Amino acid sequence: TILIVDFGSQVTQLIARRVREAGVYCEIAPFATAEEAFERLKPGGIILSGSPAGVPEEGSPRAPQILFDSGLPILGICYGQQVMTHQLGGRVEAGDSGEFGRAFLTVTKQCALFEGMWEVGERHQVWMSHGDKVTQFAPGFEIVATSDGAPFAVIADEKRKYYGTQFHPEVVHTPDGARLLANFVHHVCGLKGDWTMGAYREAKIADIRAQVGDGRVICGLSGGVDSSVAAILIHEAIGDQLTCVFVDHGLLRLNEREQVETLFRDHYNIPLVVVDAEERFMKGLEGVTDPEAKRKFIGGEFIGVFEEEAKKLGGADFLAQGTLYPDVIESVSFTGGPSVTIKSHHNVGGLPERMNMELVEPLRELFKDEVRELGRELGLNDQFVGRHPFPGPGLAIRIPGEVTKERCDILRKADAIYLDEIRKAGLYDAIWQAFAVLLPVRTVGVMGDYRTYDSVCALRAVTSVDGMTADVYPFDAGFLTNCATRIVNEVKGVNRVVYDYTSKPPGTIEWE
Ligand code: XMP
Repeated sequence: TILIVDFGSQVTQLIARRVREAGVYCEIAPFATAEEAFERLKPGGIILSGSPAGVPEEGSPRAPQILFDSGLPILGICYGQQVMTHQLGGRVEAGDSGEFGRAFLTVTKQCALFEGMWEVGERHQVWMSHGDKVTQFAPGFEIVATSDGAPFAVIADEKRKYYGTQFHPEVVHTPDGARLLANFVHHVCGLKGDWTMGAYREAKIADIRAQVGDGRVICGLSGGVDSSVAAILIHEAIGDQLTCVFVDHGLLRLNEREQVETLFRDHYNIPLVVVDAEERFMKGLEGVTDPEAKRKFIGGEFIGVFEEEAKKLGGADFLAQGTLYPDVIESVSFTGGPSVTIKSHHNVGGLPERMNMELVEPLRELFKDEVRELGRELGLNDQFVGRHPFPGPGLAIRIPGEVTKERCDILRKADAIYLDEIRKAGLYDAIWQAFAVLLPVRTVGVMGDYRTYDSVCALRAVTSVDGMTADVYPFDAGFLTNCATRIVNEVKGVNRVVYDYTSKPPGTIEWE
């Protein structure tokens, strides 16, 4: 295991990604709780992250002394290099001009970090982002690579196995960065790259059994990848002590409920309660047109339905959730001195507090693509694990204006045709999210000899890494024309189709 000490860099998560890609398990701990994490994880090596803070600034964070006393290999990245230098007796000064972006360094001395990849005299592209710099290294260190802006581009104390890079090896703009991090964990720390999803699955099954004992677990399924993978894994661990609840609020995509039933009941044999709550949701949505009002009603009603079902089942001791690692990493902030805030995300918003049940969250340590891999490991097919995200409030936020069953049915059909065309064109996996939106606007058209006066359907497709920002997917005109023709011909109630060309920002991905 590698312990990554987080000083608040925007890209700390990427360090974790790279280390895991090298087959070594790692966890991120904020600097303030790093000592605790160190005792718990008993790591084989330590990485100190970058930071928006500067070492010369008063109150800027430090690494726990125990890390330096441990005798373990340490890699300091950017701020990590500087804080290590400072704490070990060197000097760091505020730079008057920073160095940001692409830079080239020259290797001046061979070291274990460069083994098999960089030779003395070679120049390599790296990604720098720093304002302060080391002006005198700590005793035992020497320069092993240098750049114009950063004479101490890479420093090393090979005896103690301490390394510091002024650049960021974790970002893609440092082309050899992943190999450098792999060198650190394999060569320097001597850790084997044998962390696999198979191993994770076994370890988690043992954890779940230990946590749950002979208690009962209830899991809300959304039809999405995360809650599905969590449920299947938990079922593998404790069998029918698990009951899954799927609330059909009538805002699902075409055949979604049937797909969930087939997968869970027939394929995995997992006890599943499907609640038909369509009428209840439609009734509550009558006359509601404000997007926030829709979201609030749906979230609240969902909790209500879920609670009723849990009661009917005679209660449960545990609530299972598909919470992922990015949702639980404690974010480090520096406003008003170092403080730690915990971001916590609930897939079934607000439920845990209300129901007073202990949580079972077997995916807490995983990134999204690792969950997909675990899903495959558990027998889910590529098509299922590669599904586009679908928002909790479902189709309701894709029907601006009042939501009715009739409009949901129209949208379901148009959406299914659009996705069918995308799959047929082999584009599904290249797109982060694609869906249809049904607008509360009617326009005039002509079909055969008839005048039509029907709704407009908008199509949206975006690429994205994390949903925070998004670009429009550039379909060719022929593809869109074909979708428009099919939708207008096959979906009664739609006579015009438009394509949404707005990126995020300024638009959001969903329309409401
Ligand atoms: P926006 O529309 O904010 O969406 O650009 C970003 C991503 O989040 C999804 N989304 C939601 N997911 N519950 C969810 O589980 C929600 O209430 C919700 N709202 C938006 C959206 O589909 C996109 O992937």
